[in-house]
Amino acid sequence: MAHNLLQGKRGIIFGALDENSIAWKVALRAKEEGASIVLTNAPIALRMGKIKELADLCNAEIIPADATSIEDLTNLINKSVEVLGGKLDFMLHSIGMSPNIRNEKSYGDLNYDWFLKTLDISALSFHKMMQVAEKQDAMNEYGSIVGLSYIAAQRVFPHYTDMAQAKATLESIARSYGHRFGKLKKVRVNTISQSPTMTTAGQGIDGFDAFYNFADQLSPLGNASADECADYTITLFSDLTRKVTMQNLFHDGGFSYMGISEELMEMMANKK
Ligand code: NAI
Repeated sequence: MAHNLLQGKRGIIFGALDENSIAWKVALRAKEEGASIVLTNAPIALRMGKIKELADLCNAEIIPADATSIEDLTNLINKSVEVLGGKLDFMLHSIGMSPNIRNEKSYGDLNYDWFLKTLDISALSFHKMMQVAEKQDAMNEYGSIVGLSYIAAQRVFPHYTDMAQAKATLESIARSYGHRFGKLKKVRVNTISQSPTMTTAGQGIDGFDAFYNFADQLSPLGNASADECADYTITLFSDLTRKVTMQNLFHDGGFSYMGISEELMEMMANKK
């Protein structure tokens, strides 16, 4: 149900690849709540994904940008302000990729060029998009910028390998840039630490089904879905959360504060 929470607001959504993508759901919800949006993704993803379908549903323009390229980001942000008819009120960073995970490298056998790529794509791009937005003076006061994170930033999930460091960096950038952008323009910056979610990026991780089911079992409310993540993101873009900034906000059905559940205790007790 829509509440016009983003009526008159303008924003950029990074990272919608297909209908499973978290960014896809956020784009649809943002539109539903009255926002005007620009969609963006890396040129290769635009060729392979289904973003055109989403653009039609959202009546949105697509502007390609590799999120690691300052030149692409500058073009994207300038053009978005032009197309949307004014400065931006929100941006979603929903981008993650590890060449080490793609190539099934274990944590003891990482390729360091790929490690740097993981960090650049999945974390530094968050800094880059904010630095470009600041330099272009593209954000409105009380704007809101959200990145998507995962609890492997704080706890060990072995198959998440170098993405754990990328997420820790992403969350740290949210704090540091949140301080800076808050002082400069009252812009807030947060990360949402989301439950495991069945998407292209999620399912690319070895053993994903096991930790999806584990988290679902352990969380008193079960895993949060992509649609629920979109709802939460909309609240952060809205004026209802104007003093929330520099936070890593867990959106995980309670998983992050659990030790063990009755079901898992029973399962372990029955194991000889
Ligand atoms: P997804 O695969 O649909 O989205 C990842 C996006 O990153 C894709 O659209 C891809 O094209 C984009 N991307 C990769 N390299 C890029 C580049 N150089 N420039 C611009 N875009 C680029 O998967 P999902 O799950 O929707 O991922 C979105 C975010 O949510 C990621 O940051 C991911 O780490 C995070 N997340 C996902 C969870 C999951 O279990 N799926 C759990 C917690 C966080």
